[in-house]
Amino acid sequence: MTQKADLRLEMFSPDNIQGVAALAAECFTTPWSESIYQRELENPQSVGFACMDGRRVVGFIHCNFVLDELTLNTLAVDAEYRRQGIARRLWAAVTEMMTGVCSVCYLEVRESNIPARTLYESLGFAQNGYRPRYYSQPDEAAVLMMCNL
Ligand SMILES: CC(C)(COP(=O)(O)OP(=O)(O)OC[C@H]1O[C@@H](n2cnc3c(N)ncnc32)[C@H](O)[C@@H]1OP(=O)(O)O)[C@@H](O)C(=O)NCCC(=O)NCCS
Repeated sequence: MTQKADLRLEMFSPDNIQGVAALAAECFTTPWSESIYQRELENPQSVGFACMDGRRVVGFIHCNFVLDELTLNTLAVDAEYRRQGIARRLWAAVTEMMTGVCSVCYLEVRESNIPARTLYESLGFAQNGYRPRYYSQPDEAAVLMMCNL
């Protein structure tokens, strides 16, 4: 495990978005492409933070919002940097920014993804739905969760 005291959070920008897409490609079987993340830089309904170790992206969170509803699309931390509170810090940055803008957040997570489900429960999310065969590669159900902000 890599442990660094000087990790810092910054908003998505042209400087870090390539690293964000690269980390997404490492962590997910069907990641968004770099061009999709590039487009999100221009989207006023988008909020994203990257966790940086120097110039390297070691974690990120990406959400979209419509009116007062926030959707957590993606949260990922480099395998070498997990269990150090980075995901919690990324979520705290989003909630700080969105307080007063959004009142509720929704997400979907693979049923077998116990680390993420445990994390989301610890952040105050609760299950509010279930979609069988929602994901592919591999086929899997989605657990739907929500949290009041
Ligand atoms: C899920 C993920 C983002 C967690 O990131 P992280 O930085 O390691 O999480 P944190 O260190 O902030 O953990 C916060 C809490 O989440 C829970 N948690 C995190 N990883 C866990 C694991 N492997 N098993 C059980 N609980 C876990 C714990 O409650 C933890 O608190 P604790 O360490 O005090 O026990 C990371 O494992 C990851 O990137 N996984 C692959 C991508 C993914 O599945 N993303 C989510 C779906 S979009």
